[in-house]
Amino acid sequence: MARRRFTVTAALPYSNGRLHVGHIAGCYLPADIYVRYLRSLGEEVAFICGSDDYGVPVALTARKEGKSPAEVNDHYRALQRADFEGLGIEFDIYSGTNSTALHKRFSQEFFLKVLQNAHLEKRSQEQLYDPEAGMFLPDRYVEGICHCCGAPGARGDQCEACGRPIEPTLLGDPRSIITGARPEVRETIHWFFRLTDFQDRLRQWIESHEEWRRMVRNFTRGLLEAGLPDRPVTRDLDWGIPVPLEDDPDAAGKVLYVWFDAPIGYISFTAQWCEQQGGHWRDYERWWKDPECKIVHFIGEDNVVFHALMWPAMLMAEGSFELPSQIPANCFLNIQFPGEEEQKMSTSRGTAIWIQDYLARYDADPLRYYLAMIAPEDQRTAFRFDDLVRRNNAELVATLGNLVHRTMTFAHRFMQGLVPARGELAEADRAQLELVGRLPKEVCEQLEDYHFKAALQAIMAAAKETNRYFDYRKPWVLRKKDAAVCATTINVLLGTIKTLAVVMEPFLPFAAGKVARMLSCEPQELKWDAATRPLPEGRRLGEAEILFVKLDQPPEEPSVAVE
Ligand code: 2FM
Ligand code: ZN
Repeated sequence: MARRRFTVTAALPYSNGRLHVGHIAGCYLPADIYVRYLRSLGEEVAFICGSDDYGVPVALTARKEGKSPAEVNDHYRALQRADFEGLGIEFDIYSGTNSTALHKRFSQEFFLKVLQNAHLEKRSQEQLYDPEAGMFLPDRYVEGICHCCGAPGARGDQCEACGRPIEPTLLGDPRSIITGARPEVRETIHWFFRLTDFQDRLRQWIESHEEWRRMVRNFTRGLLEAGLPDRPVTRDLDWGIPVPLEDDPDAAGKVLYVWFDAPIGYISFTAQWCEQQGGHWRDYERWWKDPECKIVHFIGEDNVVFHALMWPAMLMAEGSFELPSQIPANCFLNIQFPGEEEQKMSTSRGTAIWIQDYLARYDADPLRYYLAMIAPEDQRTAFRFDDLVRRNNAELVATLGNLVHRTMTFAHRFMQGLVPARGELAEADRAQLELVGRLPKEVCEQLEDYHFKAALQAIMAAAKETNRYFDYRKPWVLRKKDAAVCATTINVLLGTIKTLAVVMEPFLPFAAGKVARMLSCEPQELKWDAATRPLPEGRRLGEAEILFVKLDQPPEEPSVAVE
């Protein structure tokens, strides 16, 4: 069968802060699981990410930290890279929107093409202006009461409480983030993206994707029903990609809106990656302009409006790219500290578990496991550190780790460290082989539908059943009674562990790597289609290793303040 081709992206984090468990659960972990699975199947994949370097969030951090925005970019991009690496999240490229000339060029050309196609319009607009700071207050420079849901603290671009886009001049009791002053309304000129041109096409397109997650469909349907407003895609800021209209005096001092250039980063980073591979940057076209290639955007709940409406409309307006085929968005992951109510994770309030802090004390796999098991796929869920410890000990250590440990130590002690022969199969052996034989297909079906939690549950259920098989066959008794039956049992157990290693690799890559070493497996034996192929009899096994360690104590102070 021909290999399928996928462009998989994960939302570009702003390079203005460290990553916490909520970010990872939202899109990076599911994207990594999906990509590892596709690679194991042998599909062609480009896994693209990098930092979102422009816009107000970075400019505000630079102001707060007394650095230049570019310094802020470099500092946090490096930290984010290290976090991803420590968690085993392996992008093909992790670039940054402020790190290549290619990105600037792609963004400016995109703007010009949309302008040429008459979907951008220059209009005069009323905007909030801070007279004390002497500047306009786009996006997050202003806060107030949401005009959609009435929540306080709504930022000028989007309300965190209801997720809806904000019209800053409609905010109740607006305040400048810079001076706290009450802004005035002044006229300024901007280029508006005519989203209205795409209202019908977007509706048809979304209706044609019944397979998308309910949250994505419902949310976008709601916005479409309310009607999409045209939106300005330029800003009065000095931090961003300049509007490429040198001959137009109205464009002086204006930059592209960060949400205009950021998703173009997915494309420009792909071009950069093609070049890095020794090809031409133009090779990006086979990842973005070929209907045979599926484009999948992993995002968090707060990015749905941009990825499911604004970005596809931009792609339609530009006209030469394929539209995404899936947008698997997760809901928010809340957090619950001991004795407290569940709450939203927040960088500014310091209510989060930071990846850097977690990795300084613990292994990556338990976190990957826990986040996949509590994944907020259809609704918000909550992270609890004591629950992570409990599940690590009861499930990873006592079920999966224990199965591997007792099988390996038995093989080393009583089978001379070799894969023993598989003799005649009894009913129980056949049932065990059938159980594990079904597993890759079962996991595959779930992963093809982006049901990561269900896939992992199926794997853990199989590990649990295999422990039952071990207990039922009692190899420690069989060893003295019937050596051949004992050998068959251990053969079946080792084969099962190999299958488990293949299907768990996308979720638990570090543990799967250890199992591969223990079973002396070559990389091709761990590909999906080789998952149930028996291990060669007589193969020498590697040393037994501990897969997961028991965690005794939750940290005394799980909430770690922002630097
Ligand atoms: O919400 C965010 O963190 C944005 N930086 C996500 C951008 S995703 C994409 F469009 F680049
Ligand atoms: Zn709101």
